[in-house]
Amino acid sequence: MALVRIDKFISERTEYSRSQIKQLISKKMITVDGQAVKTADMKINPDSAKVTLNGKEICAERYRYILLNKPSGYVCSTSEHDGKSVMELIPSEMKMKGMFPAGRLDKDSLGALLITNDGGLAHRILSPGQHISKIYIVKLDRPFQNKYIDLFKNNLQLADGEVCMPAYVRRCEISEKLAFVQLFEGKYHQVKRMFSAVGNHVEVLMRVSLGGLILPEKLGFGDCMELLHKDVENLFKKPDFDDFCRYSFRVFSANLINK
Ligand code: URA
Repeated sequence: MALVRIDKFISERTEYSRSQIKQLISKKMITVDGQAVKTADMKINPDSAKVTLNGKEICAERYRYILLNKPSGYVCSTSEHDGKSVMELIPSEMKMKGMFPAGRLDKDSLGALLITNDGGLAHRILSPGQHISKIYIVKLDRPFQNKYIDLFKNNLQLADGEVCMPAYVRRCEISEKLAFVQLFEGKYHQVKRMFSAVGNHVEVLMRVSLGGLILPEKLGFGDCMELLHKDVENLFKKPDFDDFCRYSFRVFSANLINK
């Protein structure tokens, strides 16, 4: 294994620049295998060295995948000019250079959002040919009607003439104003526009799964967690929508009922 400089190792895995890392070294805030680092050109084996910054271990992986439970009021942008960014919600020890939200949720939408610095994976998830499953729970203004099931399944046409791919919708057992929707594409404001096309209105929208990855119940709004490799692979699986609705309605409806 090729050895790498400690400052390069850290700068590739955190938000710190090489000059900031030099200062951290002079303050003895960086250790390798329990010993304070003395110089920025120290060489380490990236696969075996245990590197800490301010007492927290730095993960050897160069790519990081974070699942955020997005609260309302944040935009899916990395620019400070668009309003409060979801990136502000990622704790600094989890952040890496080049991270961005891989996908979009509206400012007022809630739920599962993937944040990563792996452009290749983001491309695979977002490319229109992939048809990754996305499941949302919505709170509607008016009661759910069974006719939505066929309308959503049969290439629903939106107000501007755009035609949707087949989508799946089910009333949530607990309330006539809650529904689950499964989409395999991501048009602008798609869920809101689909309900508007059938004469209803979405009051609250929360994404509860991305591929086969289900938002964990313990992850509160604004919280995030690092994903493991097996979770990332799960993104490309297709969940059974009816099973999902049957087993998950209690957990997710509780999030929306008081909103
Ligand atoms: N559809 C919407 O209308 N809004 C979202 O945030 C996501 C899907």
